[in-house]
Amino acid sequence: MTRSDLASLYPAHLAVLETRADEALRRCQRAHLVIPSGNLHLRAFDDLEYPYATNPQFKAWLPLTNAPGSWLVITPGQRPKLLFLQPHDYWHVVPATPSGYWAAHFDIIVIRTAEEVLTHLPGDPARCAILGEPHSALGGFIPDNPPAAMAYLDYHRAFKTAYEIEMMAAANRTAVRGHHAALRAFRAGSSEFGIHMAYCQAAGQDSSQLPYGNIIALNTHAAVLHYMTQERLPPNPLRSFLIDAGADHGGYAADITRTYSAHEDDDFAALIRALDDAQQTLAARVRPGLEYRQLHLDAHLALAGVLREAGVLRISAEDAVARGVSRVFFPHGLGHGIGLQVHDVAGFAASDAGGILDKPEGHPYLRLTRTLEAGMVVTIEPGIYFIDMLLDKLKANGLGDTVDWGRIEAFKPCGGIRIEDDVVCTEDAPRNLTREAFAAG
Ligand code: GLY
Ligand code: MN
Ligand code: MN
Repeated sequence: MTRSDLASLYPAHLAVLETRADEALRRCQRAHLVIPSGNLHLRAFDDLEYPYATNPQFKAWLPLTNAPGSWLVITPGQRPKLLFLQPHDYWHVVPATPSGYWAAHFDIIVIRTAEEVLTHLPGDPARCAILGEPHSALGGFIPDNPPAAMAYLDYHRAFKTAYEIEMMAAANRTAVRGHHAALRAFRAGSSEFGIHMAYCQAAGQDSSQLPYGNIIALNTHAAVLHYMTQERLPPNPLRSFLIDAGADHGGYAADITRTYSAHEDDDFAALIRALDDAQQTLAARVRPGLEYRQLHLDAHLALAGVLREAGVLRISAEDAVARGVSRVFFPHGLGHGIGLQVHDVAGFAASDAGGILDKPEGHPYLRLTRTLEAGMVVTIEPGIYFIDMLLDKLKANGLGDTVDWGRIEAFKPCGGIRIEDDVVCTEDAPRNLTREAFAAG
């Protein structure tokens, strides 16, 4: 998809957001949506700033991810207004004057100081729904995030426009470039840090742009679910490689995990293939009407089947799920909604007016319980890990005889496996943005 394709999809995206904004304002009985892009935050006792992260409510409207101090004003029936902060500053590169396919759709007013915004915002803050973090407060414009507006916008944000899906497809293509380079670096014997650098170079993004910190785990480190350390030296011998790394495209995220064995034909490689098969079967089930909560529970049965087949379980897959044994090996959720945030908002929303859809008992880490509908984009990321802490608990709970400890000891030096794709729910067969990007080369 080229820039001009995105340009042709953007007006319809904007129209959807305007319709949503009208309804959100009606529900909270305000006249304007006012959305700050967010500010830089100083570190404690320092004059240096934390990395800047754009307010997702702001970047939903336009692909501007590096414009702190700017504001949007959305008023029903009027063109959206962008108050764009472009300070006179010779210390830093100032944000470039907006251009591109989206800019023609906004009334853009360039301001030179943060306070100048106040002369262009609506007269009465009380008539505004101000969406942002407390830190963005300016004069009487104090973010209040009216709950009725937030519940409505967050709920509907799960349904991506065609434009958003192409933005995420582009993010996946960028991430996959990084994944290819990372695999080459692993095969060449690089350290975790070296693989990380190869990834960033190929993706053209570093920690200031990546949507989350890369997880680059060799050998047993793959058993730490959010391993972020990045050792500077490679382990010896090299056994396995788990990489969970994404990319950003205009404020939209990709979130992708792959796992590799150092040896093509060992039992760990076979376990990866079995999990990959199970993952693809689960991803293919993404359809309107399917409860994601149910898919998560079905994933437990599927993974228990993989573990039984691999000789890890000494009981049936059904028993392993019923007795909680599968949760020792698969101790996180099957996935989450994804979009402007890696873990998108409103994963538990019962409706656009509020309410919570509970997680299944015993599954506290599941991040999505909604029923799938066309336009949702979700990750499907089953995993199998050999985690000492959880294995010790299994023994302590008197379930030690449900597993083959010899098989566990054989797999433990490889840490674990996760396979993660970003999948679009459509009326038809799902669109797997990640497999599509890998297939393209
Ligand atoms: N990379 C974080 C996650 O997979 O949810
Ligand atoms: Mn994920
Ligand atoms: Mn991930």
